Amino acid sequence: MGLRILVSGKGGSGKTTVAALTTLIFARRGYNVLVLDTDSVPNTAQSLGVPPEIASKIVPLVKNEELVAEKTGARPGEGWGLLFSLTPDVSDIVDRYGIRVRENVRLVVVGSIDASKEGCLCPAIALAKAFLLHVLLKKRDIVIVDSEAGAEVFGRGLAEKFDVNLCVAEPTFKSLAIARKLVELGKQLGIRHSVVVINKVEDPLRAVELFGKTIGSEVPYHIVRYSPRIPQLENLGMGLDRLEENDVAYRDVEKLVDYLEKLV
Ligand SMILES: Nc1ncnc2c1ncn2[C@@H]1O[C@H](COP(=O)(O)OP(=O)(O)O)[C@@H](O)[C@H]1O
Ligand SMILES: [Mg+2]
Repeated sequence: MGLRILVSGKGGSGKTTVAALTTLIFARRGYNVLVLDTDSVPNTAQSLGVPPEIASKIVPLVKNEELVAEKTGARPGEGWGLLFSLTPDVSDIVDRYGIRVRENVRLVVVGSIDASKEGCLCPAIALAKAFLLHVLLKKRDIVIVDSEAGAEVFGRGLAEKFDVNLCVAEPTFKSLAIARKLVELGKQLGIRHSVVVINKVEDPLRAVELFGKTIGSEVPYHIVRYSPRIPQLENLGMGLDRLEENDVAYRDVEKLVDYLEKLV
């Protein structure tokens, strides 16, 4: 039922760009998409085309003290680990705090998941966890988590709730080496599907060759080409909802969505 996708990768590799384009394309195909932004610098809203005056006012859930207190019984500084309810009731959070990006797209800015606190009971993880465990998916529902941290921060038991570990990398040795680790971690934690997105590609042949050397032939990959239009839109303060459907990167992400759609 539905699909839960974790998008991870090195900072700046294009996680938010790929997550936002994937979201918009799924939405245009009639799916309902819930996007969770767990980045320390949350900017998925901008990429999805939420107007700056609204995006700038978003308070991440974990910074919303009242909500955290209500859902977890703890206030900041009171010792999260002790007072935490492990499964805060989140059934109403999407309705109360979700931003309606368009008819069938909701965004919840969860807030930063601290990668150094592996397996911790900090509020962001508890909330993200509750979401993943309790958000019921119907056939045409997609959850996309834009996360700077890899699957390991979610810990065992939660990581395996993801159906797809989508690792975004630039076509460089270092970035692909990080992606390889993310793929391995995802596998160890029980995520069924891993796919590497090689993003900002200018020379596809070279990118494939480098992929072969760093990650090898057993992991599926998709190439998303470099599109000058993407930084251009960003500099104009516009979202990727404005990216033309014949843009190279748009067409490449469409192919990625074709692939993901088969997993739903
Ligand atoms: N396919 C692409 N073509 C051109 N620029 C891109 C592409 N993907 C991402 N970018 C640019 O790279 C930068 C980092 O992308 P972003 O999605 O914010 O990365 P992350 O979320 O991983 O930190 C942004 O300025 C974005 O506009
Ligand atoms: Mg990002």
